[in-house]
Amino acid sequence: MNILITGATSGIGEQLARDYAAAGHKVIACGRNQSALQQLVDAYPQQITAQQLDVTDAATTIARLRGYQQLDLVILSAGVCEYVDIDSFSSAMFERVYEVNIFGMLRCIEAVLPNLKAGNQLVLVGSTARLLPFTRAEAYGSSKAALQYIARSLQVDLSKRGVVVQTVSPGFVKTPMTAVNDFAMPMAVTVEFASQAIRTGIAKKRTDITFPRLFGWLLKFLSRLPQSWQVAISKRF
Ligand SMILES: NC(=O)c1ccc[n+]([C@@H]2O[C@H](COP(=O)([O-])OP(=O)(O)OC[C@H]3O[C@@H](n4cnc5c(N)ncnc54)[C@H](OP(=O)(O)O)[C@@H]3O)[C@@H](O)[C@H]2O)c1
Repeated sequence: MNILITGATSGIGEQLARDYAAAGHKVIACGRNQSALQQLVDAYPQQITAQQLDVTDAATTIARLRGYQQLDLVILSAGVCEYVDIDSFSSAMFERVYEVNIFGMLRCIEAVLPNLKAGNQLVLVGSTARLLPFTRAEAYGSSKAALQYIARSLQVDLSKRGVVVQTVSPGFVKTPMTAVNDFAMPMAVTVEFASQAIRTGIAKKRTDITFPRLFGWLLKFLSRLPQSWQVAISKRF
């Protein structure tokens, strides 16, 4: 397969790039960090090519990704997380998070969509954070909730074309993104576990790839409770 991965310079995206390359697929690894991209190319010179890309740069992102015409699988994993400081609430922080998690992702979709054909797969990496009103997660959680809605509508609108749209909702994964967290991360998994769960879900064309399973079930159950109960539960975290 020809696979394009954003966020391939770190964490989940990097592990996916390595694992797909090791399995013999051709991977276009995207990210801003040139040295991380070079390390991937050096590790898998036959399999991985690099595309240095900042998804907040709309014109460059669209122009560069539009050039790939034979993509079987597109995985949009680039993302950032910032937590709200409720005593100094900042709309600029929301803009920073949305710039990457929403508008960056949408720019990638705009670029690749005209070239996607029946059977091709578009995978959007969201988060289980979208399921409950977690403390300080107003920006990050809402960006992932928006991603999920966009994906569900795309599943409807792209079904006629036969393009498969899938979402990934990880629980906690041990990556540089979560290494800075100063709170407990229940049921946290490794990037190797995450990559395996995602690749299995992609191969099975699952609409919703949520892991670890127990964590996902628990949050999905809690998200069906009345809103006042969800708030009461989240206050305890
Ligand atoms: N780790 C978790 O527990 C967890 C849980 C749920 C969901 N997720 C989601 O999984 C995805 C990957 O997260 P991760 O944990 O692997 O994080 P990570 O290790 O911090 O990696 C984030 C990736 O996003 C890329 N990125 C950030 N800003 C970018 C920009 N402006 N332009 C292009 N690329 C950019 C980074 O590349 P450069 O710095 O090279 O640009 C990096 O490759 C994210 O969407 C995250 O929200 C993670």
